[in-house]
Amino acid sequence: MAHGTAIPLTALRSGPLRGRIKVPGDKSISHRSLIFGALATGETTISGLLEAGDVLGTADVLRRMGAPIEKRGGTWHVKGRGTGGLQAPDGPLDFGNSGTGTRLMMGVLTGHSFRATLTGDTSLSRRPMGRVLKPLKQMGLSIVEGEGDRLPLTIQGPRRAIPISYALDVPSAQVKSAILLAGLGAPGETTVIETEATRDHTERMLAHFGWAPRIEAHGRGRRITVRGDAELRGQRVEVPGDPSSAAFLVAAALIVPGSEVMVENVLINPSRIGLYLTLQEMGADLELANRRDQGGEPVADIRVRHSPLKGVRVPPERAPSMIDEYPMLAALAAYAKGETRMEGLAELKVKESDRLAATAAGLHANGVAAHVDGDTLTVKGSGAATGGGTVATHLDHRIAMAFLTLGLGSSKPVSVDDTTMIQTSFPEFLGLMRGLGATFENGS
Ligand code: S3P
Repeated sequence: MAHGTAIPLTALRSGPLRGRIKVPGDKSISHRSLIFGALATGETTISGLLEAGDVLGTADVLRRMGAPIEKRGGTWHVKGRGTGGLQAPDGPLDFGNSGTGTRLMMGVLTGHSFRATLTGDTSLSRRPMGRVLKPLKQMGLSIVEGEGDRLPLTIQGPRRAIPISYALDVPSAQVKSAILLAGLGAPGETTVIETEATRDHTERMLAHFGWAPRIEAHGRGRRITVRGDAELRGQRVEVPGDPSSAAFLVAAALIVPGSEVMVENVLINPSRIGLYLTLQEMGADLELANRRDQGGEPVADIRVRHSPLKGVRVPPERAPSMIDEYPMLAALAAYAKGETRMEGLAELKVKESDRLAATAAGLHANGVAAHVDGDTLTVKGSGAATGGGTVATHLDHRIAMAFLTLGLGSSKPVSVDDTTMIQTSFPEFLGLMRGLGATFENGS
């Protein structure tokens, strides 16, 4: 399945996990800070940028389109080219494993008038792009080569983007953001209507760069309007820690008896903390302390202690605020007593892998009772997990990390077939886990 050589790994039942740690920068905000920096005028400096494959890939793509980006003394510096100021790349742009990088940059390219070829790895080349190309085509983007819904694709930006008003048909922050980014180069106003609120980092960062969108309530979602002919001004961005990466460390502490962990400086934007609400409902001893604001985003330190957990129902409307956390929650649910029913998971099927199927298969391989019924995943928790299985990760970093975490508390070791993809979002994962006391063994 994996490109190159797969690196299998096995998680062993571990002693208490203890310590104070900081997770690396939020992936969503990191991508956006580089992109906004490149589209602004003047210099943007970024501290805490996530230095992982997906984000470094976006930096590389922007550099190849004429935006100088470099790291000096621990801080990243982006020289902005202004709205519509990027140049045609000299060859194909490789987005690796990153759906966010691809879809956000498709929006950016719609605000430019040149042609670009976009490619990705096997996982990315299977993911649907029609959801983002549909509105971008209305804004003037054309497809020169490719099947329309999958990479590789060659696209041609219009001379000038056309402003549109568009109701999202999937709850996707990537699609919303692509339209808003394209709208920056259009004359007039571009509006996105979302029926369910998705992560709002693009809106917040627009405001931070001096180009605040107009946001109105719309049912459970919002109507977001951005003015075109944008003039973003370079800013200082401090990227908070990624709550989706913190999730694995928090879950590990909940699973392993005797654990107590403090994860510092974690983003607690309301559109991202569905997992933490759910954990509290499950009975987790978890506290968000020292809440503060950092560059327009709320952050806190998360203190968590091993706790007995009970199964809960996770309602479908919570899915957008914890969409990347379901594999970890499902594995953790094995350690809860009773049934955890996770509803409204259609979007999980189109992530780096079909995460609904991959999660259920990983649970079955490790003796956990789970079943999928339509868009609902139910895990029957017994308070413990047997383990003993090898999990197929399908080029998916979160499947690898979720099942390695599951194995820290199971009676038998848990293996994953490949860990190489972990570097796309959380290269420090194994080091931080080991630092807390987790034990892993090479091979499967
Ligand atoms: C992201 C949005 C989510 C999420 C992804 C990052 C973003 O995807 O799964 O990891 O940065 O906008 P969708 O918007 O497709 O749900």
